[in-house]
Amino acid sequence: METYMQAVKISEKVYWVGAIDWNLREFHGYRTGRGSTYNAYLILADKITLVDTVKAPFRDEMLQRIRSVIGDEKKIRCIVSNHAEMDHSGLLAEMIERVKPEAVYASGNGQKALEAHFGIGSVITEVQSGTEIDLGGATLRFLKTPMLHWPDSMFCCYLEEKILFSQDAFGMHFATSKLFADENDKAVMEEEMCKYYANILLPYSPQVAKLLGSVTLDFNVIAPDHGPVWRGEMLSMPVELYRKWSGQKPEKRAVIVYSTMWHSTEKMALAICDGLRESGIQVNLFSLEATYRSEVMTGIMGAGLFFAGSPTLNNQMYPAMADMLCYMKGLRVKNLKGAAFGSYGWSGEAVAQINKELEEMKVELIHEGMKVQYVPTQEDLQKCFELGFNAGTDFLKNNP
Ligand code: FEO
Repeated sequence: METYMQAVKISEKVYWVGAIDWNLREFHGYRTGRGSTYNAYLILADKITLVDTVKAPFRDEMLQRIRSVIGDEKKIRCIVSNHAEMDHSGLLAEMIERVKPEAVYASGNGQKALEAHFGIGSVITEVQSGTEIDLGGATLRFLKTPMLHWPDSMFCCYLEEKILFSQDAFGMHFATSKLFADENDKAVMEEEMCKYYANILLPYSPQVAKLLGSVTLDFNVIAPDHGPVWRGEMLSMPVELYRKWSGQKPEKRAVIVYSTMWHSTEKMALAICDGLRESGIQVNLFSLEATYRSEVMTGIMGAGLFFAGSPTLNNQMYPAMADMLCYMKGLRVKNLKGAAFGSYGWSGEAVAQINKELEEMKVELIHEGMKVQYVPTQEDLQKCFELGFNAGTDFLKNNP
């Protein structure tokens, strides 16, 4: 008997048949230090059903895991595509060709996306929220979740065993040999789920909040398309964290992000940091020379105060700061107050440029911006300290 690349049993009729990407370190602009998984699931109904596939290079791993349960992938009769992004649909066209299923289910937007990506729209059966399909001993019900995080995204629920297949939602980029959340380190999972939410789902927080407010998440298992599967006592963790993050209520926490050329802007950052610390508010400080944008973004999510510092280089803010602000703008932070700062040599446009970006992001400016020529004096640093101290004090007073 072959034992290589086995499936993992999740319930009486459901098996995980996905792939582990131990070496993934970049996911469109987001650094994935712990790799990822692409979860696909097999439902052993009379009509054997595959829920999602994996990234194309992981074909053999998925096929081997499927064969470890049913011997031959041609026994699959139905396929569900909950999400058309290629980390889950990468093998869909090939699987359709291999198994010639009776039906392939997706949302209407999924049908369009799958046609655009793979030319397979004509074989898709469109489903709506509330559509139920009888697989023979198992019923699947669909729920469209548009913009979580693509227009096509949807959930499906295997009703008899109360298993929710939630595609990217409640997932994380975390390669682990332990499939279930209760077998993994809780702090690591919270960190990775937070990073995933901050870097992918944050702009769609209103949709997340609406979903959590409108449906009862009464399941025995939540099976996302990345990272561990939630069950038992761990079921409430992803739901409660999503409730918190989607609320975007500012925490008593400040974030300072800066780039520096000859350490003058850094001195200003450290003085602002000390003022904030002295006010009693928690501070996270990130140099963009030391920290990648997706790690910084994880820190920014949920903060109440934000300070961005950059020197001026050839009449512009530093490229690393421009990159950070561009990335942050797309992720649509809310309820943030902040200010810009930076040293300059002879023109000093960076602070005004950062202010403009912050205004476009609807960050409420609490200061016109702190500019220092060349090297900050003790007096300049005292002003930076006061900027931080006053901002922290006001924030704590207004957010008891
Ligand atoms: Fe994991 Fe949006 O794909």
